[in-house]
Amino acid sequence: MSFFKLTIRDVPLDHQTVLVRVDYNVPLMPDGSIGDDFRIRSSLPTLKYLLDRGCKLVLISHLGRPEGKDMKLSLEPVAQRLAHLLKHDVRFVNDTIGDRVYQAVKRAPGSSITMLENLRFYAEEEADDQEFAKKIAKASGARYFVQDGFGVVHRAHASTHAITFFIPSVAGLLLEREYSTITGAMESPKRPMVAIIGGAKVSDKIPIIERFVDKADKIVIGGAIANTFLAYKGVNVGVSGIETDQFKVIDKIYAAARQKKGGDLDDFIVLPIDLTVAKQVSPDDKRKVVGLDAVQANDLALDIGDQTIDKMVAELKSAGTVIWNGTLGWAEIPAFAHGSARLALALATQPGTMSIIGGGDTADFVLKWDKNDGKSFSHISTGGGAGLELMAGDKLPGVECLLDAKPQIEYTNSKHK
Ligand code: ADP
Ligand code: 3PG
Ligand code: MG
Repeated sequence: MSFFKLTIRDVPLDHQTVLVRVDYNVPLMPDGSIGDDFRIRSSLPTLKYLLDRGCKLVLISHLGRPEGKDMKLSLEPVAQRLAHLLKHDVRFVNDTIGDRVYQAVKRAPGSSITMLENLRFYAEEEADDQEFAKKIAKASGARYFVQDGFGVVHRAHASTHAITFFIPSVAGLLLEREYSTITGAMESPKRPMVAIIGGAKVSDKIPIIERFVDKADKIVIGGAIANTFLAYKGVNVGVSGIETDQFKVIDKIYAAARQKKGGDLDDFIVLPIDLTVAKQVSPDDKRKVVGLDAVQANDLALDIGDQTIDKMVAELKSAGTVIWNGTLGWAEIPAFAHGSARLALALATQPGTMSIIGGGDTADFVLKWDKNDGKSFSHISTGGGAGLELMAGDKLPGVECLLDAKPQIEYTNSKHK
């Protein structure tokens, strides 16, 4: 089935100025360096395609969640990494709108890349502000807008939504590939289908879990999200960060699950049965696993426990499809990476199970873990929330607003029937 939006293959963009929205929201190390460049590497086919056609590229992205201008979240190091990976000069402009951008793009030759500063240095970006979008369009002077930041198309922001009011907008190759792969896999997934949700974006992901109740045959919850679920169930999780405002959503999740499965839900929504705890987060921490009744008031729960890992791996043996989004612990530190590493091992050694892995930090983790450059899994997505929302069956605002592909007209001729 062909993609339902126009892509860069469908429009005459040779030698044009093209504004490309990428998602270079890469994980950063404590010293500010780039932890993983998977999202940058994944954007290269689109950039090469456009450069080969003599286009003048203007790249825009966000990085992190800055409040105002925060130079720790400047995209300049990302521009340097892109130049290195692409073996092509990348001109960086330290603004996103205005005359400096306009002049820089005007001076740039064909087959060049000009990268602009972090969109989120302007509050107008997340506000989906039309005036701001118009200013980006004007400064770039672009003839086409290309959406290739799959990871951010679940957001209706100025650079993913309002911008499409001002420039003809089509999809890039990464967006097309991610969208088609994920929707294709979800059409009639091999069952049982297990959704494993972890990570730290609690308020983003808990509402999505609600929609997986219907789709998945089992939901396994780990990471910081599990701490909020456990607190909801009355378990003491010490000083772990929990988001009590999500309890009402968890109420709805259990109500929907009860409707689907009835009675005992512990086998359907699988929560940790033990936890790995520490008094603080430190690279030198040793792994300490405790039962759910033994978490101290000053403990942080930083990974699922060993019994939980064994239970999860056993449950996965029969899975036809596994969707994994969010690390199961603070996986940047080895003592808290056991849950995520054992899950990666289980999936990598079960080739009969379709494995779709998403989330910036999760992709980063499995790519570092996998000696096989990610090929041990069926699909590693550059999207976190975007992939989850797509799998849940939601429409993604950053995709919906692109130009529609022309429907294939079927000619029927009764004479030839
Ligand atoms: P993704 O980027 O894969 O979508 P998130 O951004 O939601 O995932 O979460 C990943 C982050 O969650 C990682 O930085 C990890 O350290 C953190 N994390 C996972 N488990 C815990 C936990 N138990 N406590 C605190 N942070 C956690
Ligand atoms: C992501 O990392 O999931 C995307 O880049 C979106 O980032 P956001 O959650 O800060 O909007
Ligand atoms: Mg993340």
